[in-house]
Formats: sequence, structure tokens, C-alpha cells
Amino acid sequence: MAVGMQLLPVLCLVLAASSHAHRTKTEVPPLADPEPSPYGSLWPLPQEVQVSSTVLLIPPAEFAIVHGEGSTAGPKCLVLQDAFRRYYDYMFGFLRLEDVPAIKPRSGQLVQLQVILTSKNNECHKYPSIHSDESYKLSVNDDGAVIQACQVWGALRGLETFSQLVYKDSTGAFLINKTQINDFPRFAHRGVLLDTSRHFLPLKVILKTLDAMAFNKMNILHWHIVDDQSFPYQSETFPELSNRGAYQAFTHIYSFIDVRMVIEYARLRGIRVIPEFDTPGHTYSWGKGQKDLLTPCYKDGEPSGTFGPVNPIVNGTYTFMYTLFKEIGMVFPDKYIHLGGDEVDFSCWKSNPAIAKFMAEHGFGTDYCKLESYYVQQILDIMSKLGKGYMVWQEVFDNHDQINPDTIVKVWKGQNYAEELSKVTAAGFSAILSAPWYLDYISYGQDWQRYYKTEPLKFNGTEEQKKLVIGGEACLWGEFVDATNLTPRLWPRASAVAERLWSSVKVTSVQDAYNRLIVHRCRMVGRGIGAEPLYVGFCEHEMKY
Ligand SMILES: *[C@@H]1O[C@H](CO)[C@@H](O)[C@H](O)[C@H]1NC(C)=O
Ligand SMILES: *[C@@H]1O[C@H](CO)[C@@H](O)[C@H](O)[C@H]1NC(C)=O
Ligand SMILES: *[C@@H]1O[C@H](CO)[C@@H](O)[C@H](O)[C@H]1NC(C)=O
Repeated sequence: MAVGMQLLPVLCLVLAASSHAHRTKTEVPPLADPEPSPYGSLWPLPQEVQVSSTVLLIPPAEFAIVHGEGSTAGPKCLVLQDAFRRYYDYMFGFLRLEDVPAIKPRSGQLVQLQVILTSKNNECHKYPSIHSDESYKLSVNDDGAVIQACQVWGALRGLETFSQLVYKDSTGAFLINKTQINDFPRFAHRGVLLDTSRHFLPLKVILKTLDAMAFNKMNILHWHIVDDQSFPYQSETFPELSNRGAYQAFTHIYSFIDVRMVIEYARLRGIRVIPEFDTPGHTYSWGKGQKDLLTPCYKDGEPSGTFGPVNPIVNGTYTFMYTLFKEIGMVFPDKYIHLGGDEVDFSCWKSNPAIAKFMAEHGFGTDYCKLESYYVQQILDIMSKLGKGYMVWQEVFDNHDQINPDTIVKVWKGQNYAEELSKVTAAGFSAILSAPWYLDYISYGQDWQRYYKTEPLKFNGTEEQKKLVIGGEACLWGEFVDATNLTPRLWPRASAVAERLWSSVKVTSVQDAYNRLIVHRCRMVGRGIGAEPLYVGFCEHEMKY
């Protein structure tokens, strides 16, 4: 059976309009029992796939992943060396080779996977960036298997795909079908947001998440590292921020070494780490370790002893921010920093007489959005001085007359996000969509289908506008999430987002997705990711704790 590019018929499923109300069992559309997909267990589905019915046997003891002839990479390419080892391990590492049954080859054997990088600029020794090339070609034939990619990032994606093609028969033999794949992501930005302020997440959980992201070809860790509740980032320049602002100064912090470990672990998996230091709101914890940073609130003409957002009218604020962001810019190598800018509460600013005076002097009247703009503009100027790019939440676009044209706007508000995407892109800004993918909201049943069916480009706009949507993010806010429940809440629900952002716009069959996702989820479980079940059933290798 040759499976070409033609896609399965789209199932017509009736889905109750999404609402914030309690969802009941009856709202979940029925899916047929899972069957083998013609695409095996590939997830996310590659752009072009041809799986043939010719089967090759893989003898694990002889099988090797190697640098192919003519590759621009060799043993010094740490990203590949590490990945070769990792992927051998995912496929066969749990075996004791003497336990593998000796089976006579029925139709040829596959003993080698060659990986060939073709570009001189293969980025082996770099960090991935927005411009990185993740495309690859994979062919599995009688005479061998080859992954060809320009850059190391495409090779990583190809290795994941190859590992997904390997399966076992009832005798325990490892098999792979002859296959041709040509693959590339639909969107360049495919992220997961983790929140380490509402609850501290141990390093191990973050690294596990990076593993799972690589299994789903996701490439951005949006690290919402600090917020009102705690400041776990340990700054070298301002150690008091975490000494006083973290939940616990010695245990609930991320040291420089911790952060660099996350960044390197991510790099080895082709994942960028973008930190978010949200200001001027969401900064309560900052105030504990940095005197005079927050605005003193007033009541009846007297300071009330409480504090509001960052104080935008004192010069000290900007000297502090410059120094802090300079450090952050050096610790996090990515070109981009997320600057937040959401949900600024104006009530404290309104109560403060010095702010009223400053507003009058600057002709802001009583428009506190103008004051916020003033603050944001200073911060953006600081970023430009530091040579960093930036992302912001949608309010910064909504509330401000002028922001730099290269700002990337994150659309997060659930209602009317299509309209917001229209507006943001019409104004010429790049956009990232997260509104429909707030995975911290949970409900009964197979809610992954809702995430899966969301089409990010379904908004009114020109082709040019649609090109400005660079991707999306699955957001797992931390109010009700810590190390105990993060992984099952995130996976495989974020897998639905991952396929939506990687695969072709034409990949829309929820039933075929279900057939593949069931196996993909068990594969994640087999690789140590505690991904929750999609429905009743079992995995061959159940989770071991
Ligand atoms: C692989 O080949 C087997 C044997 O011909 C066939 O039954 C199976 O459907 C093929 N797998 C895929 C994913 O096409
Ligand atoms: C703050 O900086 C501005 C611009 O550099 C300067 O004009 C002003 O005098 C400074 N204010 C204080 C209180 O230092
Ligand atoms: C596009 O615009 C039309 C007319 O204004 C409106 O009816 C429709 O709902 C819009 N579609 C989306 C996806 O926003």
C-alpha cells in the first residue's frame, strides 16, 4: 500500500461552541475506536509522506546512526553526537541485546542511518534562531536510510521522525517500512510557556518538558520566569531580587548555572529559550529586593504602605532596568526577550500625587495609557541599546500609539482573537497566537480536539498579513500547576498544538490524528514522559515511577 500525499476525508464532527462553562461528557464529540493510521504513528505529520508496504528488519545490535559521506558535520558536532546517542537509546536502549530474538531477515535489513548536513553554515556550534532551517529529507530504502538537512536543526527533526517510523512486530522484532519524507515546519515559532513564578518548577521538570517538546518538534521555551508571586531568577548584579523575592532564597531559585543548563539542554534539542521579565505590572515580588522600584500607593493623601506597578517617573527605575536587562541579555543568548506589558492596574498610579504632577508636566492629562506608553518606550529603547529584539503581550499594541515596528505581539485574549490578529498584522507587526491554547484551563474529556481544530490563520486579512503570523504557543500558567501535575496537564494536549503549528494546513482529520496520537502518547510514556491518557486503553510500556 503506497500512501501518497492525498489526505484522509475530513470527518464532520459537531463540536459544541467553546465556552468557559463547565463542559460535560456530552459535549465531547465521539470518535471511532482508534485503528492503525496509514501514516503509522508519525506526530506531527510531515508535510510529504510516502510509506510503502515493504518492510525492513532492524537488528539493534548492528544498527548505527552515523555521519554520512559528504556531510559538513563530524564528530565535533556535539548536537548531532548527543542526538545519535539519544535516539539510539529511545529506539533500542531499553533492550538487553541478548533478549532480542534472532530472526532471519525476511526482506533485507537496515543497519545504518546516515545523517548528512549539506550547508557549510550548519549551525552545529550555534544557538537556534528564528532564521534556523528545520527542514529535512528522509529516505528509508533497501540500501540504507539517509537524513539530509541543511542545518543541524533539520537533522534533529529528521531523527525524531525516523525514530517514530520504527515499530515492533508480535515477535518483538524491530521493523521499518520503506519511506520517503520531505518535511519542514509550517510556522517557525512553536512554543510552550512555562510559569515558574506561581509555583517553582525544579530543574528536572523543565528538562523533561524540553525532552517532550523535542518529541513534538516544538522549538521555543517561553520561560515566564518571574511574576508577582516570586522572583526565582538569581541575578548576579541584583542578588537581593531572589534573596527576598523568591519563595525560598536557597532552594527555590535558578542560579546562573541552572539557567545555562536549561539553555544548553534546549540547544541540543533545537529549542530556543526566551525569558519573560514582565513589567511594569506583575512585579510585586521585584519590590521586595529592590527598594523604590515600585510605585507607593496612597490612601486619603497618605502612603498606604502598599505598592503598585513599577514606578515610571523616577530615573532610578531606568538605570536599574538597563543594568538588569544587560545581564539578562548576556545570560540568555536568544535575540529575543519577552517584556510582558500585560494587565497593568492603574489604580495605584492614580492614587499617587507625584505621578499626578508628572502626568501634568508631560501633558498626559488623565490618560494613564500614555504614562504606560512612556514607560514602555523607555524599556524598548533600552532593548535597542542592548541590541535585543523583543516580544510583548497584546496590550502593549492595544494601548499605545507608537511602538517600534520590529516588535512581536503576542495575542492572548480569548475573545475576538481573530479580530486582534487582523488588527495587529494590518498594522504591520509580527504576531504569535496563544489565545486558544491556554492549557491551564481544563475540562472533561478529549479537549485536545479543540486545540487541534484551531486554525491560526482563520482571520480576515491579506496574504501579506497572514505571513506575519509566525506561530503560536501552548501556555501552561502555574496557578494550579507544579512539579506534581505539570507533565500530564501539558502532554499530550500540547501535542495537538504542535501538529497544528508544524503540519500542513490540509491536515485536519481529527480521527486520523486520534489514531496517531494514541500511539504517540504511548511512545512519550515509554520515553519517560508522564503524558495523560486520551481515552480508555493501555500502553505496551506503562509508566514506571
Ligand atoms: C508497513 O508495511 C506493512 C506490511 O506491508 C503494512 O501492513 C503497513 O500498513 C505499513 N505501514 C504503514 C504505516 O504504511
Ligand atoms: C532624570 O533624567 C532626566 C533626563 O536625563 C533629567 O532631565 C532629570 O533631571 C533627572 N531627574 C532627576 C530627579 O535626577
Ligand atoms: C471577517 O469579516 C466578516 C465581515 O466583516 C465577518 O462577518 C467575519 O466574521 C470575519 N471573519 C473572521 C474569521 O473574523
